[in-house]
Amino acid sequence: MLKFPIAQILNENDRQKGHSLFSKEITFLKGVVDIVGLPNDKRIEICFAGRSNVGKSSLINALASKKSLARSSNTPGRTQEINYFALSDTNYLVDLPGYGYAYAPIEKVEKWQKLLKDYLTGRVSLRRVFLLIDSRHGVKEIDENLMLLLDKVAVTFQIVMTKIDKTKKSELEQSIEKTREALGEHPAAFPELLLTSSTKMNGIETLRTTIANIE
Ligand code: GTP
Ligand code: MG
Repeated sequence: MLKFPIAQILNENDRQKGHSLFSKEITFLKGVVDIVGLPNDKRIEICFAGRSNVGKSSLINALASKKSLARSSNTPGRTQEINYFALSDTNYLVDLPGYGYAYAPIEKVEKWQKLLKDYLTGRVSLRRVFLLIDSRHGVKEIDENLMLLLDKVAVTFQIVMTKIDKTKKSELEQSIEKTREALGEHPAAFPELLLTSSTKMNGIETLRTTIANIE
């Protein structure tokens, strides 16, 4: 069997669960700049991580069917806090600051990195990290480093390949293949890939279904 197949909605029940959860409103709860500011951990929490500009905030907007719930921007480094969004009274969706953005002041970068690391390695209610990879660029060393960290603390991560509307079919296939190879080394990798376009809404229903079926 193919390792790391592309996620599909396998049954109507799962699809309904996704529809039902995301028919509820998603609201901004708070931006956290310090680990002590994290909200209580009584909900199913999932987060979106990845390099700056990969499309994390846009993906949250697409999930919510709102244009500007999470601030997205052409300028890398837009999201500078750990932003919490409440979904129904059961889930948190968490938008993380991007990594790999070299043009911010060094003290700022170091502060984000520490906050990110503390969050990703210490948050008990965090059920899954959606690790976004730009489908044009594939897995970079800095993504590898995050995967190694998540292996170490046994936090499951699932790859979301973003901006597929911008990728040629052959390019996308190559990128998927390379990503599969990179994932083979990582015990914390969830064994399915998601492919998304936030502008064209591709893969959003599958992502909603995936999130709704995380317990
Ligand atoms: P940081 O907060 O800086 O880490 O970035 P981010 O990962 O949150 O990225 P963001 O959602 O702000 O998107 C960055 C840019 O990519 C914006 O100009 C978006 O409009 C664009 N973008 C995001 N997703 C897609 C997509 O699926 N397709 C296309 N064509 N553009 C996208
Ligand atoms: Mg962002």
